[in-house]
Amino acid sequence: MTQDELKQAVARAAIEYVVDNEIIGVGTGSTANFFIDELAKIKDRIKGTVASSEATAARLRGHGIAVYDLNDVPAIAVYIDGADEIDASGAMIKGGGAALTREKIVASVSKQFVCIADGSKLVDVMGKFPLPVEVVPMAREAVARALSALGGVPKLRLKPGTDEAFVTDNGGQLLDVSGLSITDPVALEAQINQIVGVIAVGLFAARGANVCLLGMAEGVKTLK
Ligand code: 5RP
Repeated sequence: MTQDELKQAVARAAIEYVVDNEIIGVGTGSTANFFIDELAKIKDRIKGTVASSEATAARLRGHGIAVYDLNDVPAIAVYIDGADEIDASGAMIKGGGAALTREKIVASVSKQFVCIADGSKLVDVMGKFPLPVEVVPMAREAVARALSALGGVPKLRLKPGTDEAFVTDNGGQLLDVSGLSITDPVALEAQINQIVGVIAVGLFAARGANVCLLGMAEGVKTLK
């Protein structure tokens, strides 16, 4: 099976976790896009969605699925999203698709977080995938120095094919931090959150996934 077929398989499996007549939180990225396409098939069963990025909102609306502002929504039954790395505890690195801040916000108000990913994303120790950190642009260098002091090697994310900084949906910039071996994800998340100028860190450990659906050649594996 190709990586896309594995992503499609977990996207289909995630439909089991959609709660009828409720608001569903929807993540960002290629796996989340496959999920949106599956959700479109059962859109009449849900009240609507909250999107974790402008790109996701556009795809949802393109399918005729209602997208609500989080401020108008009292509760989200389930949040379904991909990840860049996952460990056995359900902690994740996210933000490869630049949507980490809104993803974290939507996840934080959701009763359940269902992570969908191809099996290659499951690792023993996270950190091979550079950890994205969204920063206020004026604080970029100060935050970069603080991340270096933690042992990381921060690199400013650029708009593809340019020398210009990538700008997120929130007007932030992204530092992708390599060289970290994340043996205590909860502690590192708390430490990076303390750095003034950080908007959000793409480490989802304090609030990790409740369920991970992993696409494997032999089928979808569920980790709880
Ligand atoms: C976006 C994310 C994505 O969930 C993550 O990058 C995985 O993406 P994909 O499903 O394309 O592999 O965190 O900010």
